[in-house]
Amino acid sequence: MDVVVVGSVNADLVVRVGRRPAPGETVMGSDLDTFPGGKGANQAVAAARLGADVALLARTGTDQYGARLVEGLAAEGVGVEHVMETEGASGVALITVDAEGDNSIIVSPGANARLTPADVTAAGDLVSGAAVVSLMLEIPLDTVTAAARAARRAVLNASPPRELPGELLSLADPLVVNEHEAAFLLGAASADAVSEPAAMARALLALGPRSVVITLGADGAVVAEPPTAGPSGFVDAAAGVPEAAPGGVAAQGNGAPGRPEGAVVTVVPSPVVDVVDTTGAGDAFTGALAWRLALGDTLPEAAGFAAKVGAAAVRREGAQSSYPRGEEL
Ligand code: RIB
Ligand code: NA
Repeated sequence: MDVVVVGSVNADLVVRVGRRPAPGETVMGSDLDTFPGGKGANQAVAAARLGADVALLARTGTDQYGARLVEGLAAEGVGVEHVMETEGASGVALITVDAEGDNSIIVSPGANARLTPADVTAAGDLVSGAAVVSLMLEIPLDTVTAAARAARRAVLNASPPRELPGELLSLADPLVVNEHEAAFLLGAASADAVSEPAAMARALLALGPRSVVITLGADGAVVAEPPTAGPSGFVDAAAGVPEAAPGGVAAQGNGAPGRPEGAVVTVVPSPVVDVVDTTGAGDAFTGALAWRLALGDTLPEAAGFAAKVGAAAVRREGAQSSYPRGEEL
């Protein structure tokens, strides 16, 4: 497999609103749309539509959504042999999309909460044999960590934002976040001090992941990698290089012992598009990124491609329903 996603599957219940209700208030919205979603399933479909060989390890419920969601994934070409059924509700996302195309989401985890580290072990070389394992945070953190541990390379979209165990963070290659998630991981204090994206990416790299991508919507993405990972070997002067030992390898650096100091930062542009619905654009980005990394792209190359896929996804309604096929790009 190019990509194995260990993650969530949700039914997305979507209503468009002029504006969101305040507490105690009722507003009228559009008719209800039900879309296939879930950050894990979304990543898998994004990769499959681009031509990736992709499988999903997940759990769905026995409610009215479970079987339909799995059929939909199979129809998209996602391997569903390891999507298991759990008694009870499936994951459901309650989504409002406003006039600007921005979304607010409440996720009810349902069966996603029952995906365990034992499920990762039971899947054997499905996980350990994949070129890239793609992860997000809508399933239990110990399951995400087990999958990252087993992976040859783990792409981690830290969404929705949660406190991350150090081990999981150290396995992320890359850690993929938007600006809000970046600020959350950096903590309120340092996020105020560091609001410029390149500086944020450097600060995140210093927390210990192997590499970092911050998605910036219309502004593209910024990539931070340790110096040895960069193709040019160019080391950013603002990133603490003077502390590096001869040869560029510091005994202790950036909170990651034995890793080269500093960071190579690359800014990746995004095509300009009209925004209809941003739901799932980050998942499309991550799925596309995972696939390109599996094919051997460098991280900046993969991020450049993923930014195009994310931009295509905001031009249409829904998450998976908005994802482009290879020939569209
Ligand atoms: O990222 C978008 C996704 O978040 C939606 O598909 C919804 O299911 C929630 O998981
Ligand atoms: Na969309």
